[in-house]
Amino acid sequence: MYQKPNKRLKGQTAIVTGASSGIGRAIAIEIARSGANVIVNYYSDSEAAEEVVYEINENKLTGEAIPFKCDVSSEEQVQAMFKSAVDKFGTVDIVVANAGIQLDYALHEMSLDNWQKVIDINLTGQFLCAREGIKEFMRRGLRPEVSRSLGKIIHMSSVHEVIPWAGRANYAASKGALVMLMKSIAQEYAPMKVRANSIAPGAIKTPINRDAWETPEALEKLNQLIPYKRIGETSDVAKTAVWLASDESEYINGSTIFVDGGMTCYPGFTDNG
Ligand code: NAI
Ligand code: BGC
Repeated sequence: MYQKPNKRLKGQTAIVTGASSGIGRAIAIEIARSGANVIVNYYSDSEAAEEVVYEINENKLTGEAIPFKCDVSSEEQVQAMFKSAVDKFGTVDIVVANAGIQLDYALHEMSLDNWQKVIDINLTGQFLCAREGIKEFMRRGLRPEVSRSLGKIIHMSSVHEVIPWAGRANYAASKGALVMLMKSIAQEYAPMKVRANSIAPGAIKTPINRDAWETPEALEKLNQLIPYKRIGETSDVAKTAVWLASDESEYINGSTIFVDGGMTCYPGFTDNG
């Protein structure tokens, strides 16, 4: 059923990292439907990023989109992305630090490079984007006509900020560390009306976890971990992100919202323990 978009982000600008696929793509489109301009950040797949931009601009989703190529683990490139956003749209109001990777290895076989790469993108990348966002929010000052907050930072975490993950210690460590990055930002900048929160998705159907859902057998096994008995869709996360970016969630700061169908409710205990 077609739902008329709610223009609750009108007049604002968002940077969404890793927006050429999966969760980031859905968030960029949903944010534009809600009235904001969007910087569609991508790492290498320019064609996929152009498609997201096309979908937003051609369908006249209110917000305007531009693509921007940037490796979120590069300080220089992240700074260039924020400069480009400010040059084009005047400011940045919403930062969705979504880009992330998995490089899975048993710990004793994990090279320093495979540890570092995940930390650099999943953690340092989110630090760099949050820092540049906060600098821009402070430079610009409050615009009460568009939002009661000075700016909003949304970190893309994971259920693995609380669920340990064998064979993926680099990934779980990066998401666990985001808890304290996000909460420290919330504590430090709340007096200036900056809000920082995380979304912790469970299993969402995207390229990052294709192995876990592409066959009926894999999906059945995955469902054993999900009390709600369905894999998450990117729209489940995108709708949460738009709400967190809007004034409807104004008093929420320093929180993680789990979008996981109950994955963090210890499903193994349903008939055991
Ligand atoms: P995805 O693989 O479709 O998206 C990841 C995006 O990050 C890609 O567009 C990729 O190009 C981009 N990226 C990778 N390295 C980058 C870099 N150095 N600079 C800029 N962009 C870069 O997978 P998905 O699922 O959409 O992942 C998005 C976020 O959601 C990640 O942070 C992931 O950890 C998180 N997440 C995903 C879950 C899932 O079940 N799909 C569950 C929990 C968290
Ligand atoms: C991972 C996915 C996984 C999900 C649930 C996410 O953080 O990126 O691969 O399916 O957590 O375990």
